Amino acid sequence: MRLVIYTGKGGTGKTVSACSTALKLSGLKSRTLLVSADPAHTLGDALMAGEIGGKPTRISADLYAAQVDPVVEMDLHFKTIFSYFASYFQAKGMDDTISYELAMLPGMTQLLCLLKIEESVRSREYDAIILDMPASGEALRFLYFPKIVGSLSMRLSGLAGLVSGFGRLLQPYFSGSAPSTDLMKTEADLLLRLEKLSKLIFDPNITSLRLVANADSFSMENAKRTLMSANLYGINVDMIIINKIMPQIRSEDSFLVNWADFQHARVTEAKSNFYPLPVKEVPLYSEELRGIEMLKRNAEILFGDQDPSQIFYREKVFEFKGDSLGLTLKVKVPFAKNSDFLVERISDRITIKVATNIGYVVNVVPLPAITLGMKLKAARLTDKELVISFESNRN
Ligand SMILES: Nc1ncnc2c1ncn2[C@@H]1O[C@H](COP(=O)(O)OP(=O)(O)OP(=O)(O)O)[C@@H](O)[C@H]1O
Ligand SMILES: [Mg+2]
Repeated sequence: MRLVIYTGKGGTGKTVSACSTALKLSGLKSRTLLVSADPAHTLGDALMAGEIGGKPTRISADLYAAQVDPVVEMDLHFKTIFSYFASYFQAKGMDDTISYELAMLPGMTQLLCLLKIEESVRSREYDAIILDMPASGEALRFLYFPKIVGSLSMRLSGLAGLVSGFGRLLQPYFSGSAPSTDLMKTEADLLLRLEKLSKLIFDPNITSLRLVANADSFSMENAKRTLMSANLYGINVDMIIINKIMPQIRSEDSFLVNWADFQHARVTEAKSNFYPLPVKEVPLYSEELRGIEMLKRNAEILFGDQDPSQIFYREKVFEFKGDSLGLTLKVKVPFAKNSDFLVERISDRITIKVATNIGYVVNVVPLPAITLGMKLKAARLTDKELVISFESNRN
């Protein structure tokens, strides 16, 4: 079973990339489920396949698609917890309608979507699940969430028996009766499922995260930060997709030529910045990318004769080791020929300039939050990587 997740900045092409991947995979006779946590209609619009709901809808022989609807899912599986939260807010003197609105905590759709994935994995009906996630920051937090909750549930179960947690935590503030057995059972079930899910997400043999960007500095920066966080969390990123690249323009029109040149420079930059991750380049088509036929053609450009479910890369590009006293960052650098390099820190990022036979290559690495209280201590270039150490300002 493979779980392939697409994320990236808004509008970069996560949905179309997920759809193309699912279409190609199902064409290779892999039973595939395409899931989106985006607002309603996203998959239906991209595939131009009519209504796609919470239940997997058959698109072709081996392809199923589902669009997670938070209201339906909530009602189906988590009514007990939902009502409990709502009654908690009601007890605080809130109006009924607002209570239900508040109980629908932010990010609930993502969480329900992940639970849907767990359910689909458990059903063993699919060889691959392709997940279209929302914008990067959010997506990563939700991918990491099951791990935190999972380990919390383990701890609680060790200390206070199997069922304990949200309900009990809220108990002192809740003027109603004690949480019902039903509630505790639903909660225990939820925690257990999140824990199982966490095992899948952190297994590089099962899960690959793929980052979609466009040929602009903003979405690239976003992808790089996501890559750093994913490396930090331990979620395997196996590909970068740069989508909507303008063709080389042969024209007198400086407007178009400028844009094309700018984009091609960003693509070159991406290849050294994301090194050694595979960077796939997808052109900007002359029309909006949608519909099964066009998405299939896009899959050929993305994957050619490769199987989209293969693991394209499985090492960490950025490796962080250490604690609050000090930290070592290892960055893989391309074609570093000699020791001519410059490392400079600018607030929450580090700029690495390495001399190569094709001139200087600049790589900007986002830093994790823990380094905010640290200073750059040393940098040394080894065979294929740059090792940078930080030490706490308190030392
Ligand atoms: N290579 C391309 N050529 C032409 N149009 C494209 C290309 N890639 C994506 N599009 C179009 O760009 C728009 C955004 O694509 P898509 O919905 O896949 O992005 P997204 O990252 O999922 O967006 P959101 O953040 O809103 O979920 C769509 O209209 C899509 O058809
Ligand atoms: Mg989308």
